[in-house]
Amino acid sequence: MKLPFVESHKIKMVESIKQSSPEERKQWIKKANYNLFNLHSDQVFIDLLTDSGTGAMSDKQWAAMMLGDESYAGASSYFKMKEAIKNILGFDFFLPTHQGRAAENVLFSAMIKDGDLVPGNTHFDTTKGHIEFRKATAVDCTIDEAFDTASENPFKGNIDLNKLEEVLSKNPTEKIPLIIVSVTCNSSGGQPVSMHNLKAISSMAKHYHIPVFFDSARFAENAFFIKTRESGYENKTIKEIVKEMYTYADGMTMSSKKDAIVNMGGFIAFNDEELFKKASVYNIMFEGFLTYGGMSGRDMNALAQGLDEGSEFDYLQTRIGQVAYLGNKLKDMGIPVLLPFGGHAIFVDAKKFLPHLPKEEFIAQTLAVEIYLEGGVRAVEIGTIMADRDPLTRKNRYPDLELIRMAIPRRVYTNSHMDYIATCIFNVFERRDQIIKGYKIISEAPILRHFTVTLAKV
Ligand code: F0G
Repeated sequence: MKLPFVESHKIKMVESIKQSSPEERKQWIKKANYNLFNLHSDQVFIDLLTDSGTGAMSDKQWAAMMLGDESYAGASSYFKMKEAIKNILGFDFFLPTHQGRAAENVLFSAMIKDGDLVPGNTHFDTTKGHIEFRKATAVDCTIDEAFDTASENPFKGNIDLNKLEEVLSKNPTEKIPLIIVSVTCNSSGGQPVSMHNLKAISSMAKHYHIPVFFDSARFAENAFFIKTRESGYENKTIKEIVKEMYTYADGMTMSSKKDAIVNMGGFIAFNDEELFKKASVYNIMFEGFLTYGGMSGRDMNALAQGLDEGSEFDYLQTRIGQVAYLGNKLKDMGIPVLLPFGGHAIFVDAKKFLPHLPKEEFIAQTLAVEIYLEGGVRAVEIGTIMADRDPLTRKNRYPDLELIRMAIPRRVYTNSHMDYIATCIFNVFERRDQIIKGYKIISEAPILRHFTVTLAKV
């Protein structure tokens, strides 16, 4: 008999989690103003809010932390991180930052100005927030199939080259400071971008003399999909694929809380020394001196180790295999899930789950609340609330997709937790006809409102 697939790690330390009663959850979510970000973590049984900073570090990462060098300038930990970035990603210059959005803040301060256009595949909300904060516009050039949850296109993170060419050819070059490609594309469901597409974007950008940056939070998961889905790459190692991916980029922003498997950290990496120098000024102002930029030495050590582990095939097979395990369970139960499964999360199509709810009542948010009430599982809305208002008209933006995202933390939960989650969602699906009312907004922030919005039942 063929031996079955198993996890590529064993467990050395455990943390208890506690179940709650439906009555307790009803009170807690009401007190949280129906915003799942307001729940205390001990009110959550299985936390799928994010895979960001929630992973379990390895024994080697914890060991590396003990060797952290906390010198203000020139710490050995900085050089370890520099070496890992050069070896794995290929960049000569880098700036450490405290997380991904800090990297965006520093880089965009050096590159983006009022009135600019920043094309890319669906920009993540902090990326878009930092672009719009500078009165520039994020232009979504993702392929149309990305918005069809039933399409099984293997690279739904791809940029539509015609849409990109349209933006590049119809606008003055000085108005387009950079192109941002998210690998994988979180906002369209953790969907990968093919090597073929990365190469084509790079050559088009070169033609127009516009730099390309990869938003790289889940670069290794992207490489795993290239290896397993794109012909010509099946025999290459993840590290070889990663190296090739970055030959098509002029730089990257990184939220290390994802594929570098640390709880906090980020960086910007570049080829261009001049741009590095320009961004350095902002790094010192916003983040810290160039050799730590918002990170402690021990965290830089863990990050260097995590970049290496996170780009190993066995680890990625376990990680992406677990996400697919949950996805397949839900699919078999008839739950409308986004296909193909993303690398870091399973997305449920809330419009198909609750087709009778009007979009004005925040369909995906309603579903996320119901799943919490059912079993203490915390997912996150990727829908109208997260889409914010249009900066000019201040009207709600209704995205094509109303999703809930169940992001799976790295190396944290077992497959029996996945079974529990699937049953929880199935139970909500069974009683979906009784969910007839959604929510209305009571208060909201002008930008990135989903973190702090307060809601009431309609
Ligand atoms: N880019 C992408 C693609 C992301 O997914 C995130 C964060 C960021 C940038 C910002 O990085 O959080 O370190 O400041 N995504 C998290 C998530 C928050 O839950 O998907 P950060």
